[in-house]
Parts: sequence; C-alpha cells; structure tokens
Amino acid sequence: MTAPNPTQSAAAPRVNPLQRLWLRELGMERLWLRPAPRPAVASEPQAVVSKQDSPAMATPGGAPPAPVRDAAPAPAAVASPVAARPAGPGPGLRNGPPPKPAPKPEVAADAAPAPIPVAEAVKNANLDELREQVVACTACGLCSGRRHAVFGHGGQPTRWLVVGEAPGEQEDRQGQPFVGRSGQLLDSMLSAVGMSRERDVFIANVIKCRPPGNRNPKPEEIAACSPYLMRQIALLKPERILVLGRFAAQTLLGTDATIGSLRGRVHQMKTEEGREIPVIVSYHPAYLLRSPAEKARAWQDLKLAARQL
Ligand code: URA
Repeated sequence: MTAPNPTQSAAAPRVNPLQRLWLRELGMERLWLRPAPRPAVASEPQAVVSKQDSPAMATPGGAPPAPVRDAAPAPAAVASPVAARPAGPGPGLRNGPPPKPAPKPEVAADAAPAPIPVAEAVKNANLDELREQVVACTACGLCSGRRHAVFGHGGQPTRWLVVGEAPGEQEDRQGQPFVGRSGQLLDSMLSAVGMSRERDVFIANVIKCRPPGNRNPKPEEIAACSPYLMRQIALLKPERILVLGRFAAQTLLGTDATIGSLRGRVHQMKTEEGREIPVIVSYHPAYLLRSPAEKARAWQDLKLAARQL
C-alpha cells in the first residue's frame, strides 16, 4: 500500500472503526483521515452560552470552543428560555448525533412580549379613547389581579383635579375612584369648601389598578401607569390639582421629598403645552382616618387650594 498524500485528505475514503484502529496503530491516522467531528460535549453548551454572551462564538467560523468546564451555562443562561427548556431526547452529551445548529427562533418565540408603550399610545387619545386604553391596559403586573381598572370620574369642565394613589378594594369592585371610607371623607372635605365630585371635581389616581392587598405601588408600576394621568391632566385642563398622599405628590412633582415638606405651599406643574397648573399637596384621606388629629392641617390645605391664586 502506498502512503497517502496528505493533500488528498479532503477526499479521503470512508473507513470503518476497525480500519481506523489499524491506521492509528500504524501512526497514519492523521494523514489519512479527516479530523473526527468534535464531541458534542464541547459544542452544545457553548451554543447556549454564546447565544447569550457572545454572538461571535456561535458562528461556525468564530473563536474555538472553550474547554468544557468553561462552556457550562452562565447563571443568565440558566434563567433563559433556551436553557430552561425541559431536556428531551435531543443530542446526548457523549454518544449522540452531532450537535444541531442553535435553534434561534425558539428564543424569540419564548421571549416575553414587549411591553405596551403606554406613553406612545396615549399621545393623541381623547378622554373616551384614554378610558378604553386604561380598561384594556396590560402594561404592568397589576392587570392580572384587577376586577376593574379605575379610570377616574368627575365633572367637566374640571375646576379641580384630585389625584389619589391607587384603587382600594371597593374601587376595584365598582370601577370608580374613592368610593370606600376614604372616599366618604374626601366628599365631606370637598363639600366643606363648596366643591362637588359631580360638578367641579374630577377624581383620579396615579395607579389605575389595585395593588394586591393595598400594598404600596412599586416604582415600575408608577412609571408604567403615570402616562395615563399625564394625559388626563392634558385633556381635562384643570384649574388646579389637589394631590393626596406621598405617592401622588412625589409622582406629580417629580420629587422624593416628604409630604410634610411639600404641603402648605403652592407648587406649579408644567403641562406638555407649557401651561402652569397650581398644585396643592395634602394628606391622603386614609391617613386622616388613621390620624384624625391631622385633619386640622388638611383643612388648611383645602383652604389654600380654594383660595383665588
Ligand atoms: N385610595 C386612593 O388613593 N384612591 C382611591 O381611589 C381609593 C382609595
């Protein structure tokens, strides 16, 4: 038998395992045979890791695969839809068929849907359209536990816009703002300064869906929902805004200052069209129910709001 020319290896004939052993014994295997395919153990996890971390590594012409211990999925990959897929009868690590190309479309199919861009959607909505958007909203997790999204309610033209935090249990049941015990107190506070929710006041909340167990709204929920309130302000064009409680005050005024430091003076809020609206901060009625001694201060706030500014 003549020794094979190494340049012919690309066209080398198939050999069976026995022939391969013999060739290895003779020290001719590397001359005769094409390189054996890489074992799956080195390439399969690499595809998962590289999809997450380094696209170049996933390409056939990319950098050589890392050693097996380095190819173990990083924590991020473990959490990814690809890594989390149940292990099926797919390629075994040692003896299975050669690895298949990475299944790219599955990543897109399993990925979470893109969040609804609320800020974009509300831009040109009128009040009825905005209400429909709120009722159908899925921009944060609160939509999964709600009975009703609470858009807000009140008279137009709007003299005062009253802004609370979020619906409670009763509001979630009825789909209307401030209809529980806090709402009864709010109604008497408003009527003490000659205002009525049917005639002069529109009542809304920063958050349109009830947080479970009335917990505090999370920053991401406030961020997801506040474009609705901003659009309500732009459409209702209230003469002034009475803000009840820390969350509403901080959201509308864009501050993390305490309510104690924000109340007792008139703030200005600039709308998208550049109009300035006076904003008065007061305690939330739920807080006043728990701390009736603070009602005197809330009364001062109402008088400030009712003053001709
Ligand atoms: N508390 C609020 O902040 N808003 C409501 O609508 C009801 C209770």
